[in-house]
Amino acid sequence: MIYEKILRPILFKTTDPESIHHTASFILKYSPVLPLIAPLLQPKDEPVKLWDLTFRNRLGLAAGFDKEATLIKAFYRLGFGHTEVGTITRHAQPGNPKPRVFRCPSEQGLVNRMGFPNSGADVIAERLTRLRLVWGKPDYPIGVNIGKSKVTELHEAANDYLYSFEKLHAVGDYFVVNVSSPNTPGLRNLQSVESLRPILSALQAANDKLGSKPLLLKIAPDLALDDIAAILSLITELKLHGIVATNTTIDHSAITLKETGGLSGVPVRKKSTDIIHFIAKETGGKLPIIGVGGVFTHDDFLEKIDAGASLVQLYTGFIYRGPFTAKRVLNR
Ligand SMILES: Cc1cc2nc3c(=O)[nH]c(=O)nc-3n(C[C@H](O)[C@H](O)[C@H](O)COP(=O)(O)O)c2cc1C
Repeated sequence: MIYEKILRPILFKTTDPESIHHTASFILKYSPVLPLIAPLLQPKDEPVKLWDLTFRNRLGLAAGFDKEATLIKAFYRLGFGHTEVGTITRHAQPGNPKPRVFRCPSEQGLVNRMGFPNSGADVIAERLTRLRLVWGKPDYPIGVNIGKSKVTELHEAANDYLYSFEKLHAVGDYFVVNVSSPNTPGLRNLQSVESLRPILSALQAANDKLGSKPLLLKIAPDLALDDIAAILSLITELKLHGIVATNTTIDHSAITLKETGGLSGVPVRKKSTDIIHFIAKETGGKLPIIGVGGVFTHDDFLEKIDAGASLVQLYTGFIYRGPFTAKRVLNR
């Protein structure tokens, strides 16, 4: 309440969203207060087992918030059940010019065109290796979301993904292939089955060699159902372990803000739930789904679970609801 009634209005009025993000990340990482108040932020444990991993609850932090894998302990303390770090690319890159994140408070959304700023797979693999040495939390899986570097041509995408996957394989618990961000030119064209096949086959071959870990695909909410059905057949054929539905949408019809980029938050909620429902029906409930898009409340969380999600993630809900988000989303 303090966050929503006092802190958020001040933050939303005064500062650009990305600057707040960096300040908040710094506080989350270094403030001595978070470990002290962590016990107050904990939802009740309801452990689930999926792909031989134990999650202490079903709610995770969606990709994009912890791009650099520096906030894993912080989100553990905030009560989440897993973090998906990234998107990480083979090559370090600065992302798109700023400003590149915008709020639409009346619709409870965000528009971003970040373009995967990150330090690259080599640096982040080392960082995660160091974390793993000192912080063993078997009930807090770390998902690793990988994307294509901007400098890599689309026809070279498979090798680019493969490099990051092999580099990070030892330090992630599950992996997500991101072909669905609207902010890397041409990336979403990789969602066609002909483009996806060489990428996913190469990753699965490497996965078999390295010791199989859960490999998932993250899709956009703007795909036609026929295209999703074709992707699901490929996922089944290649024995991928699940799907993340969904990324941000390029459909801005629900907002008045005029900025290009992917829209998240409440405006994407229904679209994402409908897609989760479709996937669950098409696959007879057999393919694990991570449901993400517009989760702000416990009811939104249940909506995703009822639609067929095994795990749920959020990003924008945390910006709007603050440090107690996990507890409030998980506890009625
Ligand atoms: C500022 C911002 C950056 C994001 N960056 C990424 C990213 O790097 N990789 C990714 O797969 N998804 C990214 N996303 C998408 C989220 O992971 C999520 O799929 C989407 O925002 C819908 O969930 P939400 O409504 O809870 O935010 C980003 C979202 C936002 C708002």
